[in-house]
Amino acid sequence: MLLIGVDLGTSAVKLLLMDEEGAIKNIVSREYPLYFPHPGWSEQNPQDWYAQAVEGIRELTKGFDKNEVKGIGFGGQMHGLVALDEHDQVIRPAILWNDGRTAKETDYLNQTIGQEKLSQYTANIAFAGFTAPKILWMKEHEPENFAKICKIMLPKDYLAYRLTGSFCTDVSDASGMLLMDVQHKCWSEEMLKICGITKEQLPQLYESFQVVGTLKPDIARELGLSDTVKVVAGAGDNAAAAVGTGTVGEGMCNISLGTSGTIFISSENFRVDGNNALHSFAHADGGYHLMGCMLSAASCNKWWMEEILKTSAYEQEQAGVDRLGQNRVFYLPYLMGERSPHNDPKARAMFIGMSMDTTREEMTQAVLEGVAFGLRDSLEVARSLNLSIQRTKICGGGAKSPLWKKIIANVMDLSVDVMESEEGPAMGGAMLAAVGCGVFDSVKDAAEKLVKVVDTVEPEADLTAKYQERYEKFRRIYPTVKELYSVF
Ligand code: XUL
Repeated sequence: MLLIGVDLGTSAVKLLLMDEEGAIKNIVSREYPLYFPHPGWSEQNPQDWYAQAVEGIRELTKGFDKNEVKGIGFGGQMHGLVALDEHDQVIRPAILWNDGRTAKETDYLNQTIGQEKLSQYTANIAFAGFTAPKILWMKEHEPENFAKICKIMLPKDYLAYRLTGSFCTDVSDASGMLLMDVQHKCWSEEMLKICGITKEQLPQLYESFQVVGTLKPDIARELGLSDTVKVVAGAGDNAAAAVGTGTVGEGMCNISLGTSGTIFISSENFRVDGNNALHSFAHADGGYHLMGCMLSAASCNKWWMEEILKTSAYEQEQAGVDRLGQNRVFYLPYLMGERSPHNDPKARAMFIGMSMDTTREEMTQAVLEGVAFGLRDSLEVARSLNLSIQRTKICGGGAKSPLWKKIIANVMDLSVDVMESEEGPAMGGAMLAAVGCGVFDSVKDAAEKLVKVVDTVEPEADLTAKYQERYEKFRRIYPTVKELYSVF
């Protein structure tokens, strides 16, 4: 039996073909454009996602026995607003998770409706990238588009809809809309009223591993697959990545170093951070999780390497970094504003601390460290809730760098477990499909049988102490410069 995992990312769709023993048979990746129509805005065309996913499935399965493909599952970039009209046409480009246009709507939700009420309705407060403030933005700024909305869905749900005709979403991804009562896993009547939408405009909620339908016969033909292939609801990319790294059940931790950077703590029971600095979401294993999300993680490194240093030789650049713990340069990683824990769409990135003898290597190092410090900010919130976290798994493009893993282990004082594959969300999507096809009894069962740790990066006491001092300095920078962001 073969299963397909589709990770609908921000820079590309990554597809993975896995057998029921967890062996990865093939991986392909196909890119699509990302548009920044104004500074701080971020959009993509859902049609591009679909076209590349379909091409990707064809490329992925070429040369394999297509009759062996039995299931498809997704991990998808979260929070994006995809709106369809009565003819199922996309009304406007999708507004993505890292789009900062909704500062006003986010303030309205948090201050006029009030954080206490939002937390009571949804277990979360409003962040600029969440879906509900985007709906309010559309209502205010594009009333003609808002009036046309027949269906609201999340990015990966658009793929499921096109492939199966099922208007569905899963509870992990839906948690990030600020429209769902996370504890009870149902739409919040109050939030729908606040946003001026109805339940009919929203997809049906499923657990991530539940089957939502089978391939439409014409699509199956186009893909060369059987129309009995089952499609499961899938999960938000962080929950899918957590499944892919075996971060399921109680008290496990996963760090994802993708375009965004997240720290994800799984739990069997519903839990909410009293200050709502961490998101309280449903997990893809049937349970829940807390999560901190920074908007620019591996994307900071990509920006620094490709846009500024004009190189794609990441390894070569990092090879020159040999003074860990001793850098005097700091970097704030807020290229697209910041979500956790600052909730500040106006924040921007900066370097500080350069002198005439500062080197290129120190600035490269500062970028990697700045992202690690940003993740540590969320870890500190988790630690303040008395969650004891000593080790974490890691995945995402950034996890390919041994240097970055070492920096993360020492900045965060965590043992970092490295998995056989860094393809967290795509692997998780394929595992959810395996559960939906009945190969495993549960997501936990799948994780226990399929996920293997191949290496662990341990923190070193002297380096951890040096990074502790540097972190104390790092955390003073944002509050000091914060006022200036509105001036720029
Ligand atoms: C999570 C978040 C990001 C996106 C990235 O809340 O916004 O991690 O899911 O694709």
